[in-house]
Amino acid sequence: MKKITNTLLLLLLPFAAFASAGVELQEADIDLADSASLQRGAKYYVTYCLGCHSAKHIRYIRMAHDFNISKEKVLEEIAPEGKGIYETMITAMNAHDSEKWFGTQPPDLSLIARSRGPDWLVTYLKGFYVDESKILGVNNTVFKDVGMPNVLWQLQGEQRPVFKKVDGQTIIDRLVTKEPGTMSNKQFDRMVNDLVNFLVYVGEPHQLERLRLGKYVLLYLFMFLIIAYLLKKEYWKDIH
Ligand code: HEC
Repeated sequence: MKKITNTLLLLLLPFAAFASAGVELQEADIDLADSASLQRGAKYYVTYCLGCHSAKHIRYIRMAHDFNISKEKVLEEIAPEGKGIYETMITAMNAHDSEKWFGTQPPDLSLIARSRGPDWLVTYLKGFYVDESKILGVNNTVFKDVGMPNVLWQLQGEQRPVFKKVDGQTIIDRLVTKEPGTMSNKQFDRMVNDLVNFLVYVGEPHQLERLRLGKYVLLYLFMFLIIAYLLKKEYWKDIH
């Protein structure tokens, strides 16, 4: 028994090391069945992110189907003006300009929720703080020397870091709001969560369909189990 416990502890070790080395991540509240949240997230994405980041694996028509809303509603309320329902989410920014402005290209965010995870994304979007030593005037708690401006600062307000010393090293203890934004903390938290919910959906749009299908598959397997049981009874009847 002891051996098993030790092995389990060893398996957990990398996670423990990871958790203590970095900033503590905030928790995302992901609910792909919440169509209203996904719709808000998609709208925020178009307004605040699509200017730089594509999400080229998702089409507007797919959202109509998955969010259970009409194509007209997608075109009117989510897609940028003039977009067709069969188009994908492609940014209008060209790669050359973004290299010039940011020194790097904003990556396509189709799979970002899968590579970074939802908790990291929430922490990242809330983790921008004023750092005058940087060209963009900001830094980020989980992405040091980030090349992305804090695009949500007007809503969130300006955050400044409070430092503390641990083992002779100065690290950020927490962020405090110096200039409030147009949103309250609660509103901003909800907005970021909607955005991340949407990014998780974009990372695997089939997930919603799989959940729906899954129920039928289980029902089918259950019915098959009964048939198999009755058959077995029938076959063995004469042998016993
Ligand atoms: C003005 C252009 C611009 C806008 C608008 C913008 N970003 Fe970015 N973003 C960037 C750039 C440039 C990078 C690359 C940063 C780097 O590599 O240092 C980036 C990086 C990121 C990353 C990190 C990617 C990685 O490497 O892991 C995420 C996540 C992200 N952006 C999300 C968003 C979201 C969500 C929005 C909308 C709320 C948004 N961005 C709006 C320019 C932008």
